[in-house]
Amino acid sequence: METCQTLPALRAATARLRAAGRRIAIVPTMGALHAGHIALVAAARQHADAVVTSIFVNPLQFNPNEDLSRYPRDEAGDLAKLREAGCDIAWLPGVEVMYPPGAGTTIEVTGPTAGWEGDARPGHFRGVATVCAKLFLQSGADVAAFGEKDWQQLQVVTRMALDLDIPTRILPVPTVREADGLAMSSRNRFLSADERARAPLLIAAMRRAAGTIAGGAPVAEALATETEALAREGFQPDYLALVDGPSLKPLAAIQPGPMRLLAAARLGSVRLLDNIPVG
Ligand code: PAJ
Repeated sequence: METCQTLPALRAATARLRAAGRRIAIVPTMGALHAGHIALVAAARQHADAVVTSIFVNPLQFNPNEDLSRYPRDEAGDLAKLREAGCDIAWLPGVEVMYPPGAGTTIEVTGPTAGWEGDARPGHFRGVATVCAKLFLQSGADVAAFGEKDWQQLQVVTRMALDLDIPTRILPVPTVREADGLAMSSRNRFLSADERARAPLLIAAMRRAAGTIAGGAPVAEALATETEALAREGFQPDYLALVDGPSLKPLAAIQPGPMRLLAAARLGSVRLLDNIPVG
């Protein structure tokens, strides 16, 4: 595996791959890699001949009240995992490489950015869209793998690539879960032992809600019942919502098109985020 830290180094490495006729996939990450990230590398591999994985903790997508310095970092461990996963290039740009002095362009996506994480984290998707557009253009990737775990982010990036005519195809990858159902996340390490034991109650409540809604129960009632159950179990639910899959518009009743159940809830100091298909 080759490691690149400057844009000329990345461009040279991808130009060699392209000259050899190899299709390139990119897997954007912020590091602290777990099995969910590695599943993206494996999926990317199946849709391209060479995989670039970026590790960049993007300051542009953190709010002033979110602690960028608390974000877990483990470069040596990450590189070992990528090597083992068969990644071809690790792209490790510094902040000054990604945003050189004078950088003044950001990307504002409307539509799927509205509501949910867009409300909870003002400016977050501007940072995500900007860095992802840069990563696609820096790597010239044919395919980019994104986890369904961050459903709204997946829709925002898909919209952005479409709107800007960026010829990188977005590949959605199903959420990887722990054996007890908890969606893997780099934030899970901040759960206390007691919180970790209770964390799977979130996906359990979501599965009950999705089941009753798909079975024809009134949507608002099913969501309220499970929101209350979560609150009783010590969660501070932020939202539990039924939405249209691509647009993320809330649904008051089931529809024939793709539906998603979204949830965000705080457990102690950790904000857990999850989503599942409905029907
Ligand atoms: P990060 O949180 O590191 O996630 C990188 C990618 O891994 C995202 O596409 C995310 O959806 C996916 N992922 C995380 N947990 C997963 C799981 N349990 N199963 C499957 N996929 C999972 O998301 C970001 O970084 C950043 O916003 C980024 C896109 C890199 C832009 O900075």
